[in-house]
Amino acid sequence: MTPEAKPKGSPVPSDKTNNGLYGRDILSVNQFSKQDLEYIFKVSKEMRTLVERFGSADLLQGKILANLFYEPSTRTSSSFIAAMERLGGKVIPIHGVKYSSVSKGESLPDTVRTLEAYADVIAIRHPEVGSAAIAAHYAKVPVINAGDGVGEHPTQALLDLFTILEEMGRIDGLRIAMVGDLKYGRTVHSLARLLRHYDVEMVFVSPDILRMPKHILEEVTERGQKYEETDNLQDTISNVDVLYVTRVQKERFEDLSEYERVKGFYIVDDEIMKKAKKDMIVMHPLPRVGEIAYTVDNDPRAAYFRQVRNGMFVRMALLAAVLGKA
Ligand code: ASP
Ligand code: CP
Repeated sequence: MTPEAKPKGSPVPSDKTNNGLYGRDILSVNQFSKQDLEYIFKVSKEMRTLVERFGSADLLQGKILANLFYEPSTRTSSSFIAAMERLGGKVIPIHGVKYSSVSKGESLPDTVRTLEAYADVIAIRHPEVGSAAIAAHYAKVPVINAGDGVGEHPTQALLDLFTILEEMGRIDGLRIAMVGDLKYGRTVHSLARLLRHYDVEMVFVSPDILRMPKHILEEVTERGQKYEETDNLQDTISNVDVLYVTRVQKERFEDLSEYERVKGFYIVDDEIMKKAKKDMIVMHPLPRVGEIAYTVDNDPRAAYFRQVRNGMFVRMALLAAVLGKA
């Protein structure tokens, strides 16, 4: 028997004070308008100031986040916890579903309907595309997609754009290369989509078997945006403002020998960085497993750990917005 969906709704009517994000699910970057982005980035900056000046605040005191992670995570799970706690809220962490009743066979709808009895917002990471949307269908409280299989990772794309804006001072006019596993990497799926609001040139750099999925290329084309595809990083790097490197997603391969063939395809090291512009940045959603040499960390253009910290500010902004406190 399929459990019945509950009607979706905000605890109180949505208002404009937080740009209409109050009570909303965050499932895909396609739901965001340019105005939403501007609002989220403005509040993220305010959150940075708040953390730098005071460390924490009591904006979300009395609020609880359920952090439901069916897949491994370091950054997303801990930055949601840090974001909630720095705003005075609390977290129910379910990070090893092995130790929850999921391992007894409990369904996603039942798990979500249980957690909403305790929490005001649910963040979910799950191996299946569309799982966050299913969770949102059953939950009355807002659901935030923290990564659904090879689908999307919307909060990551928001922090990625925020990082570009902070580092480069603008997004329009930039040439942005996404490198590595563009087939299975959900962060680049979300980022390529979110860039539709900006006048950028995109370069998709991957081995042939890891190219950006056709449906995403079609979305990019439909919007009239420019993109190029290549497998050559050496030729690409000299002419980009942002190099967004990704990990080959081992866990998504059916045939591990294919993974072995492509895993070391691109390695960003000091040698290749000599060809890059002086004012470009290197980003990576992390974890890295060899795509960027550790020696590159000392290069001021290496922005990936600043990117990590931005994730907390952006998630603070999102939690405050969906809970109606921004
Ligand atoms: N952490 C990112 C994700 O969960 C990127 C990665 O795992 O490679 O999608
Ligand atoms: N960037 C990112 O999603 O990292 P985690 O997988 O560690 O959460």
